[in-house]
Amino acid sequence: MTTVKSPLADDARKHVAKALQGALVDLIDVALTAKQAHWNITGRHFRPLHEQLDEVVDIVREHSDSVAERAVAMGISPDGRPSTVAESTGPPRLESGFLDQDKVITTFTDILGQSVQRFRERIAETENADLVTQSLLIEITADLEKHHWMFRVQS
Ligand SMILES: [Fe+2]
Repeated sequence: MTTVKSPLADDARKHVAKALQGALVDLIDVALTAKQAHWNITGRHFRPLHEQLDEVVDIVREHSDSVAERAVAMGISPDGRPSTVAESTGPPRLESGFLDQDKVITTFTDILGQSVQRFRERIAETENADLVTQSLLIEITADLEKHHWMFRVQS
């Protein structure tokens, strides 16, 4: 089996792998869920929310790529397969079908709020393991918190 050599010690690598894999799954989940809501949202404020959701999709997709590539750079194989994302207990689920705008606002306030919490745990987890990974997680958390705020104030 081909492997990418890690610059990290075993113990540090374990913490970094757990944090980055969890982050990757969360970001892919949020990207897919935001796209689903982008398509299905209904209501008087359809247009700005439709666009706001696509801003979330763009930012989390970009961050998911950074997280996966950071993992590889650390000798960790990222797992972004749909089956892995589906099996992970990540952000709250979105119901199927058309979605009322108020439901979308409360659900995304929840999804982004919980994601921020988990990212903050990952920031703590990487504190002693790898500061460069931690810095990436901090940057992503700041963006998630910004979007969390932008949904929260609408509810
Ligand atoms: Fe679109």
